[in-house]
Amino acid sequence: MSVGIDDISFYSSGMFLPLATLAEHNGEDPDKYRIGLGQERMGVPAQDEDIVTLAANAARPLINSDNRENITTVLFATESSIDQSKAAGVYVQRLLGLGSNCRIVELKQACYSATAALQMACGLVARKPESQVLVLASDIARYGFDTPGEATQGCGAIAFIVKANPRLLAVHAETGCYSEDVMDFWRPNYMDTALVDGKYSTIIYLKALRQSWKNYHEAGGLDFGDFSRFCYHLPFTKMGEKAHRKLAVTNGVSMDVELLEKQIGSGLLYNRQIGNSYSASLYIGLLSLLENDQEDLSGQNVGLFSYGSGCVGEFFSVTVQPGYKQYSRRVQHVDMLETRQELDYEGYASLFSHTCPKDGGEHYFPSEAAGHYRLAGIHDHKRIYTETGD
Ligand code: HMG
Repeated sequence: MSVGIDDISFYSSGMFLPLATLAEHNGEDPDKYRIGLGQERMGVPAQDEDIVTLAANAARPLINSDNRENITTVLFATESSIDQSKAAGVYVQRLLGLGSNCRIVELKQACYSATAALQMACGLVARKPESQVLVLASDIARYGFDTPGEATQGCGAIAFIVKANPRLLAVHAETGCYSEDVMDFWRPNYMDTALVDGKYSTIIYLKALRQSWKNYHEAGGLDFGDFSRFCYHLPFTKMGEKAHRKLAVTNGVSMDVELLEKQIGSGLLYNRQIGNSYSASLYIGLLSLLENDQEDLSGQNVGLFSYGSGCVGEFFSVTVQPGYKQYSRRVQHVDMLETRQELDYEGYASLFSHTCPKDGGEHYFPSEAAGHYRLAGIHDHKRIYTETGD
């Protein structure tokens, strides 16, 4: 019996800022963002969107009458948590109409936590093969205006179902991990924006990659040459390119532009359009690969590197299942990205300065969300989620 990802879908906000607009405002060469960081657009959440609505919108296409009652666990990965106590997945359970015989928990370790969720989900399914686990990862990346990280902001959510004999991806048991107590990126509870030592964070990311790969190999994992594709955590897509070059050098493989494009190019497309979605980022990259690669990847191995600042890294691998293409939601995902509303700088600045009120008062938000779910307001310290009818 294999265990892995049976179905997968993603969502990002219905609004975006072109990074060329940001470059113009910040007095930067647009090529710094387009080529230097490898980013074109940044997803900008509406006032009535948060990690719950993003995740519920991502998961909605995956839920049907066959699996609604069979999902026994919901794991919600995020570092943009909305509550110190209640797991965001409990709201999603209600919005999606999932059965009540379900365990739900929230996980945190910067951008890494969705991978912990995936591994835990595989363990649960291996123990009870008839069960299904819904994994959600949802984040809004905020660094603040005029910071070096500003151009790498974004938002997005991924949802996938882990089950026995999956239709899309079998997850291998071998993994390699690396953890170290470092301060490359963090967000204290009293702040809405992340603190980051940007250049240092890219060095630690690459160190964690090398060490995770070594540990993966020691655990009996595959060789570099056994993989046809690779996916990396993508704070910005150029980071994935740097990581892949580093891994190739570590393995004595010479990496030219053509091979780089073949091995990671199709996995970068969606992230370039939405920016960093923290915990969801690696998996939106994986989805981009499955939906956009020109080759039939059936039976081929994909290597994945998950990184969360602070830090935890994990290298692991999957095999693409024959027939995976027939379950693709590419048309819907591309349509979602292409029909987003473009913002000018002022529109972005006004939306990004909006953070959920903390005064304990009664607040209702304008109806802006493009998806099926929205955060209508806050009443009596409770978030009110509603359906838009779209
Ligand atoms: P910066 O210092 O403003 O940018 O911010 P820079 O001067 O280093 O330029 C960036 C690149 O653009 C450079 O390329 C320049 O040469 C190039 P590189 O040398 O790196 O290959 N460049 C140009 N290229 C073409 N035409 C031009 C041009 N000008 C410059 N005209 C930095 C960069 C990444 C530091 C900043 O964006 C930042 O702080 N970002 C946030 C932190 C981050 O994303 N770190 C990544 C690793 S940590 C991670 O992934 C975890 C994270 O997701 C959080 C979590 O785990 O929760 C962040």
